[in-house]
Amino acid sequence: KANPTPLVNEGEDKSPASPSGSKNATRLSSDNWTFNRTLSSLIRKNILRFFDPERDISILKGTLKPGDVIHYVFDRQSTTNISENLYRLLPTASPMKNQHHRRCAIVGNSGILLNSSCGPEIDSHDFVIRCNLAPVEEYAGDVGRRTNLVTMNPSVVQRAFHDLASEQWRERFLQRLRGLSGSVLWIPAFMAKGGEERVEWAIRLILLHTVDVHTAFPSLRLLHAVRGYWLTNNVQIKRPTTGLLMYTMATRFCEEIHLYGFWPFPRDSQGKPVKYHYYDTLTYEYTSHASPHTMPLEFRTLSSLHRQGALRLNTGSCD
Ligand code: CTP
Repeated sequence: KANPTPLVNEGEDKSPASPSGSKNATRLSSDNWTFNRTLSSLIRKNILRFFDPERDISILKGTLKPGDVIHYVFDRQSTTNISENLYRLLPTASPMKNQHHRRCAIVGNSGILLNSSCGPEIDSHDFVIRCNLAPVEEYAGDVGRRTNLVTMNPSVVQRAFHDLASEQWRERFLQRLRGLSGSVLWIPAFMAKGGEERVEWAIRLILLHTVDVHTAFPSLRLLHAVRGYWLTNNVQIKRPTTGLLMYTMATRFCEEIHLYGFWPFPRDSQGKPVKYHYYDTLTYEYTSHASPHTMPLEFRTLSSLHRQGALRLNTGSCD
């Protein structure tokens, strides 16, 4: 059984922002941050007791065949079948096999990145992870350009690419993928029912245009394993966000992990409004009980880890 690591320090400032966002969130100091290699190694070791990110990052080709029935992770009573196309895009070996990087950046999608000038700093990392195909070109000064791994929830196909319904949206999608040449495209296809057609449309385009991305489809046990790790450490998350999933997995491949664009609050430390996403007008109820996520709690946990030097959570500008 894994021993809990001190992830959330009791007695410490556990509330960088009030849940309502009415009080201002406190900016974390990055000035005198030093890396705590011992704690970082301990966290890696403990996570490995729950799952191996190198293996669980993707289902592999040999493990199933077209037509196999899959139960959705969050909707166990609903099923889908492995399509011929999806099977073709399953990797034969882990896309992260034997990968070890010294400094990794994980870029969340909060509007806190706007006017941060963090682009060059983000791009200076050895490995850059992004979420949900967020656009980079138009925001490069603030978010950087480089991408080594990017996630794509099925909902992104609808929200950002209008279900690929017209030639124009298909072209936009392909354009975004062409900018990812050689990267891992991580598609959580079997989490919740409802996205199967969107995934199918997207992979058909990838196959048709032979886009140079390494597709990966997370294992069915990943989500529960990640949640189990955090619950064992007294972090009572509901469903881990993509950002927290990426951090948990990255501990396996990265020495130092630096986070940007994680700010689940409607205002910054000066009280100025912050967009939910840096690139669109989506709004989000951070503390709604209906939300599947517990983002402010995740943020407090990451803040605590930042203060202990296990990771660096960048919430200010990089000037
Ligand atoms: N994030 C954040 N603060 C925000 C927006 C996002 O901390 N204001 C982080 C979250 O960890 C989130 C990640 O950045 O998972 C990527 O953002 P997004 O694409 O919005 O993720 P979600 O739409 O929330 O996708 P999911 O629900 O699967 O996590």
